[in-house]
Amino acid sequence: MALHSKSPSNSKRSVGSPGDFRNMVDRELPHYLALSLSRNKELIRATKGFMPPDEGTGLALSLHHCELPNLLPAVEIGSYAGLSAIYLGTVAKEQGRLLISVDHHHGSEENQLGWEYHDASLVDPVSGKMDTLYLFRRTIELAELGDSVVTVVADSERFASVYPGEIAFLFIDGGHGMDQAQNDFESWVPKIAPRGLLAIHDVFPDPALGGRAPFLLHQKALANGFSETMAQGSLRVMRRDPE
Ligand SMILES: C[S@@+](CC[C@H](N)C(=O)[O-])C[C@H]1O[C@@H](n2cnc3c(N)ncnc32)[C@H](O)[C@@H]1O
Repeated sequence: MALHSKSPSNSKRSVGSPGDFRNMVDRELPHYLALSLSRNKELIRATKGFMPPDEGTGLALSLHHCELPNLLPAVEIGSYAGLSAIYLGTVAKEQGRLLISVDHHHGSEENQLGWEYHDASLVDPVSGKMDTLYLFRRTIELAELGDSVVTVVADSERFASVYPGEIAFLFIDGGHGMDQAQNDFESWVPKIAPRGLLAIHDVFPDPALGGRAPFLLHQKALANGFSETMAQGSLRVMRRDPE
């Protein structure tokens, strides 16, 4: 299943470096977003996760520029402790859009015991499994995003099979193994409406810097009716071409 090498050193992931979103906030952000990110600065610093501020800000800006009606939700695959949801949820709230955040909350392969991104403090002592749900709920509460973020605790492919509608925006940041990433792509990308946006995290053109799956998804999207609109760190955002 894994495309990441079992060797942890082959899967460098982006972890937040506090403070460096401030320049972007000052220079490029709409007022509501700058205000909200500034207000949530400490929460962003304290939240466990894999989203550096410049990429989180880029993610927020990309949803801000989504031109599709707010009746169409944004969907994120991979909630973890809610770091990316702070950025996306803030914009969704302003737009009157829902952010549906999907995660089984048992961690990806690389979060399990023995892997590079394992955090032993997140193992439920009773089940013995990773459990990030309570952290996600806490983050959404503290960010005051409860009315805008729908928390779905489910396998992403299984939930896609019962989710019937179109979506305006998709952020893929779930399992980074090849099979899982492909499943997320196949089950969710067809739901993106024309002119809707697809964001993919951890896209590393240089294999020495990270796993292959997100990069291959990025290539696949570009070959199948998407055009790139933004690159920020390892974040890539593409727009589905009009029909
Ligand atoms: C890289 S983390 C997400 C990081 C998060 N976006 C952030 O900003 O910190 C990947 C998440 O995907 C979830 N995940 C992995 N495979 C999944 C699947 N098949 N269905 C649902 N969630 C899955 C894991 O539980 C994990 O929380």
